[in-house]
Amino acid sequence: MKRDEMLREANKYIEENRDKVKDGYYRLKYHIMPPIGWLNDPNGFVQFKGEYHLFYQFHPFSAESGLKYWGHYKSKDLIDWEELPVALAPTKCYESHGCYSGSAVDNDGEFTLLYTGNVKNDGVRSAYQILASSEDGIEFKKEDDPVIKEQPEGYTAHFRDPKVWKEGDYWYMVIGAQTIEEEGRVLLYRSKDLKSWEYINIIGGSNYNGFGYFGYMWECPDLFSLKGKDVLIFLPQGLEAKGDLYNNIYQAGYVIGNLDYNSGEYSYGEFIELDRGFDFYATQTTLDDKGRRLLIGWMGLPEEDHKYIEREEGWIHSMTIPRVLDLKNNKLIQKPIEELKELRKNHISYNDIILNNEEMNFVEVEGDVVELLVHFEEWNASSFGLKVRRSEDAKEETLIEYDSVGEKLILSRERSGRGGKGIRRVLLEDINKLKLQIFIDRSSIEIFVNEGVEVFSARIYPDKESKGISFFAKSGKVKLKKVEKWDLD
Ligand code: FRU
Repeated sequence: MKRDEMLREANKYIEENRDKVKDGYYRLKYHIMPPIGWLNDPNGFVQFKGEYHLFYQFHPFSAESGLKYWGHYKSKDLIDWEELPVALAPTKCYESHGCYSGSAVDNDGEFTLLYTGNVKNDGVRSAYQILASSEDGIEFKKEDDPVIKEQPEGYTAHFRDPKVWKEGDYWYMVIGAQTIEEEGRVLLYRSKDLKSWEYINIIGGSNYNGFGYFGYMWECPDLFSLKGKDVLIFLPQGLEAKGDLYNNIYQAGYVIGNLDYNSGEYSYGEFIELDRGFDFYATQTTLDDKGRRLLIGWMGLPEEDHKYIEREEGWIHSMTIPRVLDLKNNKLIQKPIEELKELRKNHISYNDIILNNEEMNFVEVEGDVVELLVHFEEWNASSFGLKVRRSEDAKEETLIEYDSVGEKLILSRERSGRGGKGIRRVLLEDINKLKLQIFIDRSSIEIFVNEGVEVFSARIYPDKESKGISFFAKSGKVKLKKVEKWDLD
């Protein structure tokens, strides 16, 4: 009864109010956003009966981080997403303060979600892991009792975000945790039937197994194998900025290692940030029927709501475009999904242009919903790059610059318009070409560097007239081997 009421009320609210936000300029054209209200983490990313499903942390009733529901989209091609009714509402006592993040699996034709029920009574938190299942992938029925009722001894109730997968005869789960000493952990569980779970071991942690202090909580873990290695993604909270590293409020990154599935022992290397931009958190991956390990992230961060200007339009936050993961030289390589090429139209291209201590723009290379491929080589300039979302008077611009002396690629939104400001940098040593694939979508920019060795994601809030793009070299030359531009439709 109550389930139906809460879901009905949410769906009705969305229907009655969606028109209020739809014309906002900052709404994205090819990214997943909430129809109205608040979005955060991607959840339950899975392919089921040939279709991709993506759920998300959703508070439909305002552009604030309120009580969490699960919103739901599905797609045949990761491009056209169909909005489905809200999938989960926090109806049960074990989730009274929100249906928190979790994952989905196809259990032999039964679409199964595992997620965290968040409860806060008189300021005291508890966390329950909950199973819900569905045959049609639209309506979900929750188990009466949580499948994991509490965290192991020695842990706080910051115990959440189960990510589940199958390996051999067992289902495995990694889950984010915090010790009572306030150190982040990822724990491993195992189950035969998704319902009765056995705790196996600590996969990794802050001040654990020689790793050193690395934050007070690790959220949204995700463990998967790629090219014979086991990659663990997690979100450490509580790191201090260190030069160009860890400059956002919380981080999203990974380690590469080997997991012994029997003992649950995991040995791994250094932590590497997944994204070098300003707005990136809470990723989730899935393996699709093409054998691709796909990743999607929240193009936003917790606790920085005021930086996201679309709040004024009655909605907030979006996902990144989906990325395909690969492993090379002990590093994850991230590329935009090929499917995005279907959106390309109005191709413009320029080749072999030398920029010599000057700034240039090209006819028809401009826009606010575009993809750019920019290929620089043969430089002696001390720095070079491009400026996008430029206003006519050049007072507004988003700067992408390679400092060839410091060997750093820089993204500056100091003059991007409204919203968050600042500069992010990443070291790119010993390179002799710089290839940038840039996706601009109204209030976002994603930059894939040198075939996916680095990515920068950011939200930006320029004026809607600021559509200019220019290219420059300082103190020397650079060859613009190629500039290609498409409008994305
Ligand atoms: C990450 C997170 C998760 C939690 C969810 C709540 O952004 O804090 O750990 O499940 O958001 O919305």
